[in-house]
Amino acid sequence: MANENENVSVWTSIRFWRRSAAWVTGFATMLLIWLTFDTLGQISMGTAEDLKNGVDKRVPSASVINYKIGYEYSAKRGHEVPVIEGKQLFFGKEWSPKEAEALLRLGKLTSQAKNCMDCHTLLGNGAYYAPDLTKAWLDPKWKAMGYLGKPTKEEGIAEFLQHPSQYSTHARRMPNLGITAEEAKGLVAFLKHMSSIDTNGFPRNFSKTVDQFKAGGSNAH
Ligand code: HEC
Repeated sequence: MANENENVSVWTSIRFWRRSAAWVTGFATMLLIWLTFDTLGQISMGTAEDLKNGVDKRVPSASVINYKIGYEYSAKRGHEVPVIEGKQLFFGKEWSPKEAEALLRLGKLTSQAKNCMDCHTLLGNGAYYAPDLTKAWLDPKWKAMGYLGKPTKEEGIAEFLQHPSQYSTHARRMPNLGITAEEAKGLVAFLKHMSSIDTNGFPRNFSKTVDQFKAGGSNAH
């Protein structure tokens, strides 16, 4: 009978695979812990002070509703990035940090209660039955539609949300979801805040649909 250890290649050695598995698992665990802390730092929300001092945060504080938000191509990053510009009244006033937070919270809760994700995509989650809402605040269609007869963009979007079935720009119409005036304000704050989040250029085709729109085509999503 041959000795057990003779002619045993390392690839068939159970000891080798056990050790490898232990090392790989250990390494992957450390990597995941490091990535988790790195991500937490990047996605933690900024403060109203950061906005005042021009400190760029991927997720700005709720007070961003008091600022004008642009969307510009960054050659360095190869995609558009939100740019927080000067102050801009929102529904005719400047919101204190507390008020802005409360309004954003109302908008977020309403978006969950009314299940916008059933039809739309928000920050990569949801459906594509209806347009992606991640950058909907920046959609030039609002201006092109004359803010639906209202004096500002926020009032125009709030009007749309309360009577969506009266305004159609796409092949499909959005149904009335019984959204109140207060909830609509919150939702517009939610949409405006979401558009200010640096999403690494997501959704990718947003500016393309915008260019089509500027060229006079339909803003089909
Ligand atoms: C049953 C499906 C459905 C649900 C639920 C729904 N929507 Fe819509 N939504 C649509 C469709 C369809 C359109 C395209 C209508 C159009 O522009 O003519 C639309 C368009 C929009 C637009 C215009 C987007 C753009 O840039 O063109 C906004 C903003 C919007 N919805 C917000 C919301 C919010 C906020 C919620 C949740 C409170 C919501 N929707 C829930 C179907 C839905």
